[in-house]
Amino acid sequence: MKKWSPDSWRAMPIQQVPAYPDGEALVETEARLASFPPLVFAGEARKLKKQLATVAAGDAFLLQGGDCAESFAEHGADNIRDFFRVFLQMSVVLTFAGAQPVVKVGRVAGQFAKPRSSDTETVDGVSLPSYRGDIINGTAFDAKSRIPDPARQEMAYRQSAATLNLLRAFAQGGYANLENVHRWMLGFVEDSPQGDRYEALANRITETLGFMKAIGITSESTFALRETDFYTSHEALLLGYEQALTRVDSTTGDWYATSGHMIWIGDRTRQVDHAHVEYCRGIKNPLGLKCGPSLEPDGLIRLIDLLNPDNEPGRLTLISRFGADKVGDHLPKLVRAVQKEGRSVVWSCDPMHGNTVTAAGYKTRPFDRILKEVQAFFDVHGAEGTHPGGIHIEMTGKNVTECTGGARAITAEELHDRYHTHCDPRLNADQAIELAFLVSDLLRKGQRKQAHTEAAE
Ligand code: PEP
Ligand code: CO
Repeated sequence: MKKWSPDSWRAMPIQQVPAYPDGEALVETEARLASFPPLVFAGEARKLKKQLATVAAGDAFLLQGGDCAESFAEHGADNIRDFFRVFLQMSVVLTFAGAQPVVKVGRVAGQFAKPRSSDTETVDGVSLPSYRGDIINGTAFDAKSRIPDPARQEMAYRQSAATLNLLRAFAQGGYANLENVHRWMLGFVEDSPQGDRYEALANRITETLGFMKAIGITSESTFALRETDFYTSHEALLLGYEQALTRVDSTTGDWYATSGHMIWIGDRTRQVDHAHVEYCRGIKNPLGLKCGPSLEPDGLIRLIDLLNPDNEPGRLTLISRFGADKVGDHLPKLVRAVQKEGRSVVWSCDPMHGNTVTAAGYKTRPFDRILKEVQAFFDVHGAEGTHPGGIHIEMTGKNVTECTGGARAITAEELHDRYHTHCDPRLNADQAIELAFLVSDLLRKGQRKQAHTEAAE
């Protein structure tokens, strides 16, 4: 195999490339980015990989989620706080009710580039280049906005740095202290259908914390109660940007993507001999790989050979996204191939991208189909004896109306109320917490089944 370097992908075929009109400006931007500080540190990516190894071993659960696409327009502190708060609520539900440590990875602080199914978008007979994410061009439907502009890469870099800075402060500066479990209720989830269930759980946690305090374990003495590890991730789609932020770790001499802790390869760019796989194979971060209906077991094993040749636990997370009705046709054969070959992976379920439909003129996702895909994912892993290791979702802390259904029963007619996404429809805070409760039930059921089997052995 040819030697890898941060730019070896440039010699390979590549999909989803924006047509920058000014090549010189692009080169200059990439050179400037290459001189900027890394956003994350290699040691953090290694720590995440270790935590993902515990997921691969069946001892923890991965929660990965955030916007489909971050945007320059929605960069307020409230937005970040609301997202982080719902994320914490979900993880508390999963940790306490599901009785598993939760590895927390946001689709955030770098999730700006979008793969598109078509290069152009046509409205009322006018065709323009598709929107490819704020790091590339603008959403407005006019010719100027849709021109790829390299200056946007620097804006995305700086926004990622600011977002990450605030998230680190929240995770380590007291906001994530478990003693705040009731305060995370403030906001719209409080008066929601999930509110009572969450409050009951928060009461139990507070009671438990009271007991722990009585025996001398407090948030002052125990850092795990006071702080949490929170990691960032995004799709490594815009490879010029990724290359500029690819750096050698001085402690190991290895190359790391420093644009985020974990990066993933999208379903449209996972061709085994193409640029995106080439780039990702050479960096040491934990990687995700989206697995859609066109991925066959042989192709998957070839990808694993390239992306995780040393079979390192925690290196590779397989994110299945088939659509609720297709899980049974596709997932078992992939799981069996991976088991047969003895490969260590994290299995995660993206119940969003295979369940997109159009209703009342909006791209939406019915909540019951999302639940159905998660349920089917757990069923398959239950039957195969493998660990349903995580979920990967598009969500926001805001009270949007983008996915239909859920306990508040959002209808297709209501979608226009608060449809704010820059790309795909996201779960709102209520729907995200409802999903967390469902997953915690499934996790507990799986644990009971396992305990039962072990007792019978
Ligand atoms: C995404 O995660 O936003 C995405 C585009 O997913 P996929 O590559 O699975 O279609
Ligand atoms: Co999406």
